[in-house]
Amino acid sequence: MHLLPSLLAATLCVSGAVNAVAVNPLPAPTSITWGSSGPRAFNGRNLALNGAPNSLVSDAWGRAYDAITSLHWVPQATEAPIATYAVFPTSTPKKKRGTTTLNSITVQIADSKAALQHGVDESYTIDVPATGQVITITAKTNWGALHAFTTLQQLVISDGHGGLMIEQPVSISDAPMYPYRGIMIDSGRNFISLPKIYEQIDGMALSKLNALHWHLDDSQSWPIQMASYPSMTVDAYSANEVYTANNLKDVLKYATARGVRVIPEIDMPGHASSGWKQIDPSIVACADSWWSNDNWPLHTAVEPNPGQLEILNPKTYTAVSKVYSELSGIFTDNFFHVGGDELQTGCYNLSKITTEWFAANSSRGYNDLLQHWVDNAVPIFTDPKTSGNSKRQLIMWEDLTINTPHAWTVPKDIIMQTWNNGPANIKTLTEAGYQVIVSSSDWFYLDCGFGGWVSNDPRYDILTNPDAATANPNFNWGGNGGSWCAPYKTWQRIYDYDFTANLTAAEAKLVIGVTAPLWSEQSDDTTISSKMWPRAAALAELAWSGNKNAAGKKRVTELTQRILNFREYLVKLGVGAAPLMPKYCLQHPHACDLYYDQTAVV
Ligand SMILES: *[C@@H]1O[C@H](CO)[C@@H](O)[C@H](O)[C@H]1NC(C)=O
Ligand SMILES: *[C@@H]1O[C@H](CO)[C@@H](O)[C@H](O)[C@H]1NC(C)=O
Ligand SMILES: *[C@@H]1O[C@H](CO)[C@@H](O)[C@H](O)[C@H]1NC(C)=O
Repeated sequence: MHLLPSLLAATLCVSGAVNAVAVNPLPAPTSITWGSSGPRAFNGRNLALNGAPNSLVSDAWGRAYDAITSLHWVPQATEAPIATYAVFPTSTPKKKRGTTTLNSITVQIADSKAALQHGVDESYTIDVPATGQVITITAKTNWGALHAFTTLQQLVISDGHGGLMIEQPVSISDAPMYPYRGIMIDSGRNFISLPKIYEQIDGMALSKLNALHWHLDDSQSWPIQMASYPSMTVDAYSANEVYTANNLKDVLKYATARGVRVIPEIDMPGHASSGWKQIDPSIVACADSWWSNDNWPLHTAVEPNPGQLEILNPKTYTAVSKVYSELSGIFTDNFFHVGGDELQTGCYNLSKITTEWFAANSSRGYNDLLQHWVDNAVPIFTDPKTSGNSKRQLIMWEDLTINTPHAWTVPKDIIMQTWNNGPANIKTLTEAGYQVIVSSSDWFYLDCGFGGWVSNDPRYDILTNPDAATANPNFNWGGNGGSWCAPYKTWQRIYDYDFTANLTAAEAKLVIGVTAPLWSEQSDDTTISSKMWPRAAALAELAWSGNKNAAGKKRVTELTQRILNFREYLVKLGVGAAPLMPKYCLQHPHACDLYYDQTAVV
């Protein structure tokens, strides 16, 4: 250390504790203290639970134990000082000390009845003692215990001789910063098979993300088999691209077993055509109109195919009520997402009932129309008779409150999911008193940066088409390349997002968490995992323990080796996470940094 320039020595000192940590679980626990007496052998086959047997917890330990014993994990990256470029393991197996083996886990859960719902206590502690044979885990609820296991499974590694060891005696006390930590999948634009959904949940459980926001349908397809309206799946992509009620329940069961809530979304009244038009064509406006991007003042949708529920047709509410009620009977979460984004006035311009309503009273405008939706639909959604849930809480995309057009008043107990204008909209919404889920597209949209997907697009033809070249000089290079939300959001960009930066303490308290959406126009089973992972793990740590170290400095550089290792771990567990760097960078910590100065990220 004394050979390093003093600035570097000083900065490495700040993260000195981390440098000593050869095993680097993700998300970084809020508090972790390491002993220095060297690793111990591990053989944690026995799980002792105090109190009544609890199959949820013992099954979860079974999975963690299987991962530990089948992977015999050799950490693939380490947080070594910049000058040494040490390759893991830094603590060699020969330092394994003593003859006693850690061979059992005691788990104490204060309240094993607490349901997996918003705000449930997810805290836990892990104590790996220097002596004795028992690792002690405490948690307030089952869900905290599950998080303890996903931490512990990342701490136990191969001893290099066919056995297992736990790197050092360790004491962890951990709890999330935010109660809502999600990713969003979209099975409306392209179908996603159950195994691929399970794969996402596996990654979520390991990174302690706890909310799977499932955008079930969109205007393009209706993949959900409905008992109330069997004809809706005429608009599934095929008979094989349909979720039965049992499929949905299986996903819910799989997720719950892993501490992941499933929040269904039926997008209404916009993004609604497929399925709905099979119930009754009169409840959908502008279905199958030309979307008119090429005549923008008349556009009926922001992407093909158009369709929005007929807000003024009373039959719409009968259908909405039955669909919502049936799905509420399957999805047990208190939260239900009822959409509300991207209402296009040009669509309702093709609706007879709407244009007549406007003609009858010239003071009426689109805001009044959307208010009609809120006034008629929200009471259906909140009525325990339709939801079957006396604790129902709604989520909407922010648009219905702050986009143009918007409703005049939206109840303040509806959670707003923000996706536009970054911190400015978070400020506006929390100032107005709404609880907010942050999905700012400039930071968290995982589908961005893959180019445009609409066809017959002359903007790419700029060498032979001078008009296109003049109008779109940067369409093919140096610009967005056709992706409306380009560029691609890198793991560093995601992790660096200080989304509560300009909020008062009271406003910041209204931010309940984050969700990274992966809209699936260009995703299906073949790409979902590589677009989702390991970037979602950067989001997971951001929401679990934040992006700053104890000194209040950005720790994205500390995350580097952690996320590189985590990506390898995901792949070994069967989650098809994309590589972030050449493997060289995993094995040569800091060799691939842009700046030698470790304080370059502020
Ligand atoms: C509505 O349609 C009429 C033609 O029917 C057109 O003149 C008008 O510009 C349209 N308005 C919008 C907002 O699309
Ligand atoms: C016309 O619409 C305006 C705005 O919604 C409303 O305040 C007014 O009461 C309406 N007038 C009639 C006669 O319906
Ligand atoms: C916070 O507000 C300041 C002053 O308005 C602005 O310059 C800055 O960009 C804002 N920061 C964020 C993260 O929005």
